[in-house]
Amino acid sequence: MSEPLVLGIESSCDETGVGIVRGTELLAHAVASSVEEHVRFGGVVPEVASRAHLEAMVPTLEQAYAQAGLDVRDVDAIAVTCGPGLSGALLVGVAAAKALAVAHDKPLYGLNHLAAHVAVDQLEHGRFDRRVAALLVSGGHTEILLVDDIASDITMLGTTIDDAAGEAFDKVARLLGLPYPGGPHIDRVAREGDGTAIAFPRGLTAAKDAERYRYDFSFSGLKSAVSRHVQHEQRMGRHVDVADVAASFQDAVVDVLTRKTVQACRDHDVDTLVVGGGVAANGRLREMVLVRAEAAGIEVRIPRPGLCTDNGAMVAALGAEVVARGVAPSSLDLPVDSSLPVTRIVA
Ligand code: KG4
Ligand code: ZN
Repeated sequence: MSEPLVLGIESSCDETGVGIVRGTELLAHAVASSVEEHVRFGGVVPEVASRAHLEAMVPTLEQAYAQAGLDVRDVDAIAVTCGPGLSGALLVGVAAAKALAVAHDKPLYGLNHLAAHVAVDQLEHGRFDRRVAALLVSGGHTEILLVDDIASDITMLGTTIDDAAGEAFDKVARLLGLPYPGGPHIDRVAREGDGTAIAFPRGLTAAKDAERYRYDFSFSGLKSAVSRHVQHEQRMGRHVDVADVAASFQDAVVDVLTRKTVQACRDHDVDTLVVGGGVAANGRLREMVLVRAEAAGIEVRIPRPGLCTDNGAMVAALGAEVVARGVAPSSLDLPVDSSLPVTRIVA
């Protein structure tokens, strides 16, 4: 049998994404973002995001059909993110997917957003042929995963106990007077700074944390340290060197992310690491993960930035794997689950 042709829909945060894949081949990748509408609030406003999904859904579907030269009648299945994410936003994608499934008599698959972030790498670098580890870093997630089978077997080794990595970038950018979303601005400004200028804390890396929090992260103490540093400089009447603060903050985040992830690969004897999520676009992270993984004999796979941020192709990519394994479709009363655990790949 030829590879499954799957339509994927994503609407868990502020991107409306529609993708079409055949197996690991990408046929369409259309994304509409509502990020501009959230800028003045300094973060994603759920109601605004839901409304934007509603408006963007049909045009984004049509854009994807045009790119692939086919439409929903041609596909074998419809896959949709049903969690984790913002409930109201997820509901728009799930409602659209159900409508298409019923109207065209297609099987419906409610899929896990986190697993999809990992699966998307297969569109670029081919199928995983063995167990891989994954580092997922975005505005909403920071996880180290062990992936034995992308469609059926994922273990979470660690996660953040407070802020997500991207959230920390966004909050620190705000402290430094940089626009939202802050990650790309910190990345840019930090290039002019000295990452060793200020010794910011590395959360959960003390010897006492090596057991209980071995693969976990904490970024709220780091954010507070940056805030205290800025306030202190201002009180002293000194000029805040934004480039040095940005570079030192960024180094602290990247140091912990890469150190713990390489440790997890070593501990579990894994020689392939996939990095995904919006923060995977960070220049310093990409550089550092390569250096540290290579030194440990680990191959690094990072999809291009356009596939790292939220999109529908990642959902379609996971859908194709699930369909190929003969997994039963979801029920038509599929609910959304804002805190769907990563171990539930198909809901
Ligand atoms: O994956 P994504 O697009 O959406 C979520 O699922 O959250 O990730 C967005 C996050 C934001 O916090 C943004 O600041 C961060 O990714 N980000 C970056 C960079 N580009 C985006 N963080 C650091 N460096 C970047 N170059
Ligand atoms: Zn995401």
